[in-house]
Amino acid sequence: MKGIVLAGGSGTRLLPLTRTVSKQLLPVYDKPALYYPLSTLMLAGIQDILIISTPRDLPRIAELLGDGEYLGLRLEYAEQARPRGIADAFLVGSEFIAGEPVCLILGDNLFYGHDLPHLLRRAIAAHAGATVFAYSVRKPEHYGVVEFDQGGHPIDIVEKPHQPRSRWAVTGLYLYDQQVVDIARSLRPSVRGELEITDVNRAYLQRGELAVVRLGRGHAWLDTGTPATLLQASQFVQTLEERQGVKIACLEEIALRQGWISRDRLRGLTDQYASSDYGLYLQQLSEASVGG
Ligand code: G1P
Repeated sequence: MKGIVLAGGSGTRLLPLTRTVSKQLLPVYDKPALYYPLSTLMLAGIQDILIISTPRDLPRIAELLGDGEYLGLRLEYAEQARPRGIADAFLVGSEFIAGEPVCLILGDNLFYGHDLPHLLRRAIAAHAGATVFAYSVRKPEHYGVVEFDQGGHPIDIVEKPHQPRSRWAVTGLYLYDQQVVDIARSLRPSVRGELEITDVNRAYLQRGELAVVRLGRGHAWLDTGTPATLLQASQFVQTLEERQGVKIACLEEIALRQGWISRDRLRGLTDQYASSDYGLYLQQLSEASVGG
């Protein structure tokens, strides 16, 4: 399975924060927002990852993450010249996808939950068609919303409905089989001028090939698209990290625990973080004194 992180968009709801910096590079507590979705793909066991961003932001993102080799990843980069919608990621990334199944995650989404890696791995192992992950929210009208029948089967998905038929929002994490590129190619732009991911999901639903996995109360799904949600995400991460003394979305740690890099390799990576809290954490990890 290949992975795509879509880190495009102009971040208008965060201006002036995003006047010169991409929203995916803004801090969520102690690391760039982009680390969180990237960590989700890594926890799912995905190592071939394409990062898509704007011509302005892509060089900075590439400078931050490089080729990924030091994390056991193979990172590639591609430009999305204009914000043409989430489904455009499959057109920009069609060569990278090369007929394989693909997991797409939005660059400003943060997922947290102890069994998420397990859920994802299970969905990937059994994968055919499309799988989306739904989360019950207070304001579903801001999202794609799934409607279920009495038996709990999805019967419709509507993008930002005025009158939502359920509280189940479609999160920014999607698994697709090899049909996705052709489906994306067949889409017409919506009223807001974008290729909508909801239209991709509806196409799978109409074929009877859409699975909706509900993320229950034990999960957190946060986005970082506004000043308030950016701050909430930071506070969430800070609270857990300070309480437990472990880090969320520490890419080097995940690479180590996945067996993609050795402890020696990790030791070699610590210097660049100097005496920052993150650097200290890596140092302790390389000495095997955090979390066993
Ligand atoms: C997009 C999708 C929407 C989905 C949301 C998740 O919304 O269009 O279906 O629920 O991401 O973050 P947008 O960010 O374009 O408002």
